[in-house]
Amino acid sequence: MNIVKQLIPHPLKYLTATELAEIDHEISIMETREAAGIEALKIVQANRGWISDDSLMAIAAYLKMSSAELEGVATFYNLIYRQPVGKHVIHLCDSVSCHLTGYAEVLAAIKGYLNIDYGQTTDDGLFTLLSNACLGGCDKSPVMMIGQQHYQQLTADTAIDILQQYQQGVEQVNGEQP
Ligand code: FES
Repeated sequence: MNIVKQLIPHPLKYLTATELAEIDHEISIMETREAAGIEALKIVQANRGWISDDSLMAIAAYLKMSSAELEGVATFYNLIYRQPVGKHVIHLCDSVSCHLTGYAEVLAAIKGYLNIDYGQTTDDGLFTLLSNACLGGCDKSPVMMIGQQHYQQLTADTAIDILQQYQQGVEQVNGEQP
């Protein structure tokens, strides 16, 4: 990102009234404006799908912090997307327990079925595939997360079945809550 050469969007013009109200609420319950950074990023991402450079700069200006500082927060938190993503983002755990219990087969099945690799989005814009560090379900691995749902003890077949349900228009295929 080249922040220096870009004009910083005026936050009050760039962010919607709803976004500003939600961010104001987060600020009101934090000790400092800067502490609301991650929640502000989540609020804008929930509306816009991802965090563009303009969004990042507008949020940073509103929180009175530098874009570089907020970029650091966004980079640290892997559920903030700094590039456009599909409607459903698949986070597949690639940590040790999952590796020992079938991660490779699940990954191969997902890649083959969707014809995408890590970091890519399907042509129809429905799925983006990302790797993820441990999702906290090691005793029920392999695990993937889509939205707020965790899918555990995956096999190649169950993973594809879940993806097919999303393809059929199910907004949220029930799994486990994290
Ligand atoms: S190692 Fe995959 S959920 Fe913990």
